[in-house]
Amino acid sequence: MRENTRVAPGMTEAVPVRLRISTLLLSNRWLMAPMAGITQSAFRRLVKGFGAGLVTTEMVSAMGLRLGQPKTLRYLIFHPEERPLAVQIFGYDPEAMAEAAGIAVDAGADALDINMGCPVRKVVRTGAGGALLRDPQLAAKIVRAVRRACQVPVTVKLRAGWSPDRFTAPELLRSLEDCGVDAVVLHARFVTQGFSGRADWSLIARLKEQARVPVIGNGDVAKASDALRMVRETGCDGVMIGRAATHNPWIFKQIIDLEKGFPVTRPTLSERRGLIMRHFHLLCESLGPDRAARLMRGLLLRYTKGLAGGARFRGEITRVTDFESLVKAMDSYFSSLAEYEA
Ligand SMILES: Cc1cc2nc3c(=O)[nH]c(=O)nc-3n(C[C@H](O)[C@H](O)[C@H](O)COP(=O)(O)O)c2cc1C
Repeated sequence: MRENTRVAPGMTEAVPVRLRISTLLLSNRWLMAPMAGITQSAFRRLVKGFGAGLVTTEMVSAMGLRLGQPKTLRYLIFHPEERPLAVQIFGYDPEAMAEAAGIAVDAGADALDINMGCPVRKVVRTGAGGALLRDPQLAAKIVRAVRRACQVPVTVKLRAGWSPDRFTAPELLRSLEDCGVDAVVLHARFVTQGFSGRADWSLIARLKEQARVPVIGNGDVAKASDALRMVRETGCDGVMIGRAATHNPWIFKQIIDLEKGFPVTRPTLSERRGLIMRHFHLLCESLGPDRAARLMRGLLLRYTKGLAGGARFRGEITRVTDFESLVKAMDSYFSSLAEYEA
């Protein structure tokens, strides 16, 4: 994609608009969402390269960090290119959360995010993630403890409430602000909804109306223009993008271009292939070829979404397990795509 450096005529505001979260000044307000199994170091470096203003680790167990479990500690490994980096922790015990926050900051986290939205039964059953929306007092205790334990900005990623009959996020935010939270991300769905239905952006607007800290909107941004529309319609200070970035990591560059007044450009086939290869190599660097190939197979399912012949290709790679064969299969698929386009 071409590089746009000009500022569009008639633009009065310096673009991209920057977002400040307490002491942290981000280069823009377009944030990559934390996603388990996806936002590992390799992917974070990738989206950072396309301009994401902030990247976050996937959710990390506070208890695992506290116990020093090697597998959990590995989530804290990052590359300097990713900075500023937020680490997201989940748990239910204020002391463990505070200790985990300290460990994350010692490992280099520039911000600390607390998960209060995860709807997965295994997490909710323990009283963590989305379950905290049913226990606002415990949620407040956790934020207070984490706030005390670290000097970096503390944010909370929450949903609108437990179930659609009560929009409790505004009430909870008031209390979390008193406990020292520096920003909040609202995924505009309720916990019991999981990922069903549409995210209700009007809830973001309602939360923003009363918030004293920056509100970052999240949910169903599918393309670049949606991000700007979310800002226009809700007045939110930033936008967090999840699933759309997993098959279109260059969405961040597209949003920034659009914000500058330029049209959205789509990557060429060779740019697409280049990006996938870079992702491969970054994964190999951090995980070794075998684990990288296994992971990459899953990621390729997302990257080929909507491409001609994508379904057949995805069927073909289901049994491929080694790095070389995967690259070969990908090469032949992209060659056939190029012929098809020609
Ligand atoms: C595969 C997957 C993994 C996710 N993992 C996390 C996570 O670790 N922590 C978190 O706060 N949210 C997680 N989420 C939720 C996303 O961060 C985001 O809130 C949600 O996908 C809505 O945004 P979107 O419509 O832009 O995808 C995950 C979502 C998906 C689909």
